[in-house]
Amino acid sequence: MAVHLLRFPVQVVFGEGSLEEIRSFIRSFGKHALVVTGDGPTASMPAVDTLRGILAREGISVSLFSEVKSDPDVETVERGVARAREEGCDFVIGFGGGSPMDAAKVIAARLNNEGEIVSWEGVGRIPGRAKPLVCIPTTSGTGSEVTWVAVISGGKRGQKMSIVSQYLYPVLAVVDPCLTYTMPPEITAATGMDALTHALESHVSRRAWEPTRALSLKAAGLASAYLERACQDGSDTEARRGMSLASLLAGMAFTASGLGLAHALSHALGARFGIPHGVANAVLLPHVMRFNLPAAPEAYRELAAAMGMEISGLSSLRAAEKAVEAVEGLLAVLPLPRNLGDLGVPASSVESLAAEAFLNTRMRSSNPRETVPEDLVGILREALG
Ligand SMILES: [Fe+2]
Repeated sequence: MAVHLLRFPVQVVFGEGSLEEIRSFIRSFGKHALVVTGDGPTASMPAVDTLRGILAREGISVSLFSEVKSDPDVETVERGVARAREEGCDFVIGFGGGSPMDAAKVIAARLNNEGEIVSWEGVGRIPGRAKPLVCIPTTSGTGSEVTWVAVISGGKRGQKMSIVSQYLYPVLAVVDPCLTYTMPPEITAATGMDALTHALESHVSRRAWEPTRALSLKAAGLASAYLERACQDGSDTEARRGMSLASLLAGMAFTASGLGLAHALSHALGARFGIPHGVANAVLLPHVMRFNLPAAPEAYRELAAAMGMEISGLSSLRAAEKAVEAVEGLLAVLPLPRNLGDLGVPASSVESLAAEAFLNTRMRSSNPRETVPEDLVGILREALG
């Protein structure tokens, strides 16, 4: 029998208005926070002022670091570290989507650890504990607020590095669906498809087991029920809550069970062509599912049922195919590109993208089907359209 590990050290505060509730948690973390946000509209969200006010009432000073672009690189992280040191920050708050939260995670780690960030790529390479870290998502997709992973650009080959460490877990995640109400439909769709991809890839992972599968199935059901609604009407509070919960649960699942080929390929596409992570996942997901189906029909059958598909009386493989149909049906109504060709990916790049993705041994080893580079070439060709 296999031996499993479930490590889950993050305190989570969830619900509408939960941002207001953090004062009792935050007192013990320090006296001066570095608040890390994106360089776009997030930094001017009214919620940033709300957060400042809450911290001020607790006697906590704030330095705002709002220089994080999509797919943050090592240099941005080092600038954040320098800023935090100059201003005497003793804890870090990541506020925004996956990019500012991932940057905040590595800034918090770097503040307490010397050495090159590029040497931390992989699992367990950060030498010691980080400064206390709080993550507050304003999108519903990444799940980064509850995971031990940060993705930073700028590895030796210019690739996206996955830094995986127990020292990257935040001490507190504040998931307030109200913070997602102003997210535009295209971002809602892309980040929501990231959450759904986390749910699906974690469920079929070779490292999945009963508790992670329960989380994955619930997340898949929520995302398939609410993503279209959240895109159509951003003020649909039930749909926004459903997507915040889907993102949270999928993050809890995949931090334990790992991901698969959609993410391995998505990271390669993001590093090479700057394609947003959720968009790349959305375009790749049905093709990766079709490739994986023969290796995990029962897991895909469970996903089809969780996503509300009628599967009674169907053969195992036919029921599993219903999971792909559920994803394709959802993609057909979302404001997203349909294929890699629409995203400007040239056919000539397929082999080198496949080779880069194949180097992601961690995601390849959790993917349910054994994979050779030619398989990745085939998936990319299908996704080109
Ligand atoms: Fe993802």
